[in-house]
Formats: sequence, C-alpha cells, structure tokens
Amino acid sequence: MVARGSGVAARRGDAPTPCDAPRDASARAIVEHFARATADYDLWSPGLNMHFGFLRRGLSPFRLEPMLEEMNLQVRRRLGAPSRDGARVLDLGCGVGASARSMARGGHLVTGLTITPSQVQHARLLNERAGLSEQVEVRLQDYTRADELASGAFTGAYCIESACYARGLGKRDLVRETARLLRPGARFVVADAFYRVPPARLPWPARALLRRIAGRWAVESFAGRAAFATALREHGFRDIVFEDVSLRVVASVAHVPVTVARFLGRAARAGRAGLHRERWRNVEASLLTALVPLASPWFRYYLVSATRGA
Ligand SMILES: C[S@@+](CC[C@H](N)C(=O)[O-])C[C@H]1O[C@@H](n2cnc3c(N)ncnc32)[C@H](O)[C@@H]1O
Repeated sequence: MVARGSGVAARRGDAPTPCDAPRDASARAIVEHFARATADYDLWSPGLNMHFGFLRRGLSPFRLEPMLEEMNLQVRRRLGAPSRDGARVLDLGCGVGASARSMARGGHLVTGLTITPSQVQHARLLNERAGLSEQVEVRLQDYTRADELASGAFTGAYCIESACYARGLGKRDLVRETARLLRPGARFVVADAFYRVPPARLPWPARALLRRIAGRWAVESFAGRAAFATALREHGFRDIVFEDVSLRVVASVAHVPVTVARFLGRAARAGRAGLHRERWRNVEASLLTALVPLASPWFRYYLVSATRGA
C-alpha cells in the first residue's frame, strides 16, 4: 500500500479549489470516508481495485484479484473499442485508478475523476509506476459538475461502484453530467448494486440492512433500477440494458471475511493509537455484505450499458 504523503509531491492544482470543494454535507462525508478507508484496500486487492469481482468460467473462485480484474474487463468489453482519434473515456469515481489502468492496458486513453484529494496523488503515483501517466490522467473533480471538461468530448464513460455515491435513486445529477460530456454514439457502462423495487416496499429487516451498509460506506442511497433507467432515457440515452450479474459477484463477496481478518491484524498492530472510525465503518459495511443475499429478491448487482443518443 502506498501511504499518503509517500514522497510524491502534490502537484499544483491538487488542493481543493472552490470549484472542487465538496458540494454539501453528503459529499464531505464521502471525501472523509475515502480519505481514511482507501488505506485498507490493499488488504482487499494488491492492485487496489475498490470493487467486487466477476466470476466467469475459467477463473478460480478462490483467487480474488483475477475476479476483480475481470470486472474491469467486463466493463471494458461493454464500452467497445478504443477511439482511433485519440479521444478519451471517463472513469467517473476512479478511486486510485486501478480500473483506469486496466482500460489503458486495453488501448483506451482515460480521464479519471474523484472527489477525494488524497486519491488523486495516490493514483498519479501508481500511474507513473505502471508507466501509464500519458494514458491515464486523474483529476480532482466532482462527477456531477465537471465544468472544466468540454461538452461532447468523450467517447465513453463508466462508473464501477461509484454511481451509488450520486444523489437519489435515479442519480440524475450524474446522468445529466455524463450525457453532457459524451459524444453521440458513446457508451456509458455502470457496475453497481441497485434496488429492484422502491426501498419503501422492502421488508424492514432488508431495508434496515441496506441502509446500514449504505451509511457505513457514506452512500446516501443506493440507486433504484427503474429510477436510473428513467434518468438515462430522459437524458437522451438509448439501448439501455440491465444485466443481472449478482451470482457472478457472490464468489468475491465470500472473500470479505479474509480481508476483515487481515484488517483486525492491522488494527492489533496499530495498538493503542487505533485506527480511524471510518476505517472500522468500512469494514463493518463489508462484513454486512455477507447478509445481502438475504435481500436478493429486492436488491441485485447489475452491469448497465447505454448509448448516448444523437
Ligand atoms: C468504491 S470507490 C470505487 C473506485 C473505483 N471505481 C474502483 O472500482 O476501484 C468510489 C469512488 O467514487 C468516488 N466518488 C464518489 N462521489 C464522487 C463524485 N461526486 N465525484 C467524483 N468521484 C466521486 C470516490 O472518491 C471513490 O473514488
């Protein structure tokens, strides 16, 4: 794990400017969460993938990292071929750039956005180490108001377990801004968990479980499938496909207890100094995902693809 302050000088422009400053209390909570919890993702993924994995035939359910990388590859496949004219794709909510580097290895040029300042420096260091600084640029920018980026400039966009951080069930602010940034014909791919029915219709134990997980991850509300589809249509997306890949993801969820055990070892080594509350909250949410299959009639993991209309 590359610690913050690991010797990579912050570049000019990395500090939050008024434009980059978190838009409200919910955004500040997201930044606070990832400023702390990013430090433990090395226990989950040596490549620092901050998402669940995808099990396909030929992969072992006992090896987590190849399943995490496979999720990147599944998204990449749905994005389509890299543009020949040097146009870039957007990684909206890019973490420390693991997926963006995977896309770059597949020939894409990528612009990654995150609202967490420490992730920008960290991602840039990892891009340099991977020799991918030209192919992957990472910016400190809110994906719901990326004013510095030109309209229609991008040939594709994706969100891997980051769309959930936008507001509401429909994630309208995110969808509107993505529609602005994409060229006609560009693909938008989202990998995330969605409510299949309005949350008010869930039995209370399932609703309480999902709210607890969301809160511990600083997510205001997970997305709703119907509301998200409506937002996509209203912002000019067509060919909208929801693929339920919940069963593909389960094998990676089964690795959570091992990661939690490693975390407890880290906490024990930290001794009396202890670990920040957000890091414990992240681990609690991860542990609770083991119960999510009980909510599976109402809550599923989807790969969503859509095309930006003319
Ligand atoms: C669970 S992490 C996923 C990171 C990455 N997609 C991956 O799979 O490795 C969620 C990411 O979304 C980012 N994020 C949340 N809200 C955002 C916003 N409004 N604008 C940009 N990034 C955001 C966080 O900073 C974090 O990097």
